[in-house]
Amino acid sequence: MNFSQFGGKRVLVTGGAGFLGSHLCERLVAAGHHVICLDNYSTGTKANVACLLGHPRFEAIEHDITLPIRLEVDAIFNLACPASPVRYQDDPIHTLKTSVLGALNMLGLAKRVGARILQTSTSEVYGDPTVHPQTEDYRGNVNPIGIRACYDEGKRCAETLFFDYRRRHGVKTKVVRIFNTYGPRMQADDGRVVSNFITQALAGEDITVFGDGLQTRAFCYVDDLVDGLLRMMASPDEITGPINLGNPQELSVREFARRIIALTQSSSRVVTRPLPQDDPTRRRPDISLARLLLDWEPKTPLDNGLRRTIGWFQQQMAGVVPPTALVDVNRAKESDTKWIH
Ligand SMILES: NC(=O)c1ccc[n+]([C@@H]2O[C@H](COP(=O)([O-])OP(=O)(O)OC[C@H]3O[C@@H](n4cnc5c(N)ncnc54)[C@H](O)[C@@H]3O)[C@@H](O)[C@H]2O)c1
Repeated sequence: MNFSQFGGKRVLVTGGAGFLGSHLCERLVAAGHHVICLDNYSTGTKANVACLLGHPRFEAIEHDITLPIRLEVDAIFNLACPASPVRYQDDPIHTLKTSVLGALNMLGLAKRVGARILQTSTSEVYGDPTVHPQTEDYRGNVNPIGIRACYDEGKRCAETLFFDYRRRHGVKTKVVRIFNTYGPRMQADDGRVVSNFITQALAGEDITVFGDGLQTRAFCYVDDLVDGLLRMMASPDEITGPINLGNPQELSVREFARRIIALTQSSSRVVTRPLPQDDPTRRRPDISLARLLLDWEPKTPLDNGLRRTIGWFQQQMAGVVPPTALVDVNRAKESDTKWIH
């Protein structure tokens, strides 16, 4: 695997001011790339990339990817899209446009400038899966008219577009399917399990579990996930994906609530509420392909990742502005230096 071919390149990160995008931007800048962060700031914030503003190899552009844009870049990471059900259901039609028109615009740009392009798809393309764990050849069980469809079907259509642009136009496309990821800079009010449970536990409120809590989730720490994105982008052209990226360590939602209560030493109790429509009952990635083709697997133990995330939420809730740079942007992580030359 040649990690060197993107060293010192111009890299576009759409959705770069979001949770995952901001971590990715930091790692790319640290590894010597010139990063263009493109975002409409709908669910992301400038605060997430504040440490990079003013850096000579970083620029931020306010733009909505449903509209075309002309840029000169070598590689594109397409992350722009609200990721939590609360946010993507706020404006479902714009969510669909973001996935579909956004993919078309970014693929058009990649075609014009000959850039590599990576799509951050999602485990949601599997819907409420009937096979377990989910391998990439499983075609999914999505309700096309449900309230999650604007996200699930938008992401499925984007994958189709990525493969058609490769077949029809020879664009160097790559698709990863991301499973639940957590870490600092998750939004406190995004309604997702990790942020909900942590903020409730820290406030000493009841922890709300939807359904009986026996549905499972598998959580990947953000640093591991970013490693996977970088490895996928640097992989040979023939590695197209889709490749699952996530943590196969499965936990019931109820067990997860217990872990958070223990780590926060909270007095919170667990209470149950009815399960929302189309909420998947089980979700766990099969990451054999990522292991084989990218030599990738998550390294961060759940409790370590949770402690870092809890620490970050504690600072937020205490009104302490957390140090925005989570990596030293002037010094690359040893494994990322392979990207430079
Ligand atoms: N976090 C996860 O667990 C997870 C899981 C599966 C897939 N993903 C995918 O990874 C990507 C990033 O997710 P995240 O968790 O960082 O979400 P996020 O909401 O924090 O980040 C998304 C970013 O995209 C921006 N954005 C949204 N619509 C846009 C548009 N039309 N034009 C330009 N910018 C736009 C937002 O302002 C935000 O900064 C998303 O595509 C998401 O579908 C994330």
